[in-house]
Amino acid sequence: MITGGSSGIGFELARQLVALGNTVAITGRDTTNLQAAQSRLPGLKIFRSDVTDPRAIPALCERVVADLPALNVLINCAGIMRKIDLQKASLKLEDVTREIETNLNGTIWMDLQFLPHLKRQGNAAIVNVSSGLAFVPMPISPVYSASKAAIHAFTLSLRVQLKNTSVKVFELAPPGTDTPLFWGDFTREDVGGLKPMSVEMLAKRAIAGVKKDVLEIRPGLANALKLGSRIAPKFMLSQIGKSVDLMHVRSRNSALSS
Ligand SMILES: NC(=O)c1ccc[n+]([C@@H]2O[C@H](COP(=O)([O-])OP(=O)(O)OC[C@H]3O[C@@H](n4cnc5c(N)ncnc54)[C@H](OP(=O)(O)O)[C@@H]3O)[C@@H](O)[C@H]2O)c1
Repeated sequence: MITGGSSGIGFELARQLVALGNTVAITGRDTTNLQAAQSRLPGLKIFRSDVTDPRAIPALCERVVADLPALNVLINCAGIMRKIDLQKASLKLEDVTREIETNLNGTIWMDLQFLPHLKRQGNAAIVNVSSGLAFVPMPISPVYSASKAAIHAFTLSLRVQLKNTSVKVFELAPPGTDTPLFWGDFTREDVGGLKPMSVEMLAKRAIAGVKKDVLEIRPGLANALKLGSRIAPKFMLSQIGKSVDLMHVRSRNSALSS
């Protein structure tokens, strides 16, 4: 079961896992996107569900377990990422924490709802998708970075609490990866000219990591971010923080022209 499997990393994981002979189900909010994914991957099971709705998650779990009683892997991939200028006067409190609701609350709710079923399987796994930005925040995406650091911390705790169960707990911390999310709200300058990892390579590294029991999978630059956060945290933050100046210049220019 892959949340957010209709696009990007989730879809590519689904594609590679189906090719390896697995039965895969995906979720997403948009039925058209889910159907498009299914037409590209015949046999894929699709379930429309929003991870930010805690009332929808028990119903989803019931439907999925009835359809796939042998389900033994949950991958929490659903996520959003926005650029947010924290000084912008028009910010709405109820909107500014959307990344927390989707990325963090959604992951915790899915983990806990599916846990009883996963524990009944002889051999099961949860994969929580964080980010290299869990280790060093990207200041132009402050709420996103906070949500991913929190997923990292939650996953560490979940792993300790489940140590005597049959459920292994993995964290996949992708680096910048070539998906609609990477380019959605960001320009090439925003990401410091970074060339993202291909989604095929990311999914390949993720599956290889799980197969080898690497509990914290940090492909490419994500590993450098973790190392840098230990060795030179101020330097790393100042490098990633450079795009804040650019964001301020753009805000000033658009204020002047309006
Ligand atoms: N791409 C990167 O550079 C990168 C780097 C590090 C970490 N990640 C993480 O990897 C994960 C996947 O990102 P991606 O790059 O593959 O993004 P993507 O291509 O934009 O795909 C995001 C997926 O999440 C679904 N989704 C969004 N909100 C949802 C909600 N409330 N409920 C259910 N599904 C929802 C989307 O479908 P609908 O919109 O139809 O719901 C879509 O299927 C995210 O957690 C992201 O933070 C990505």
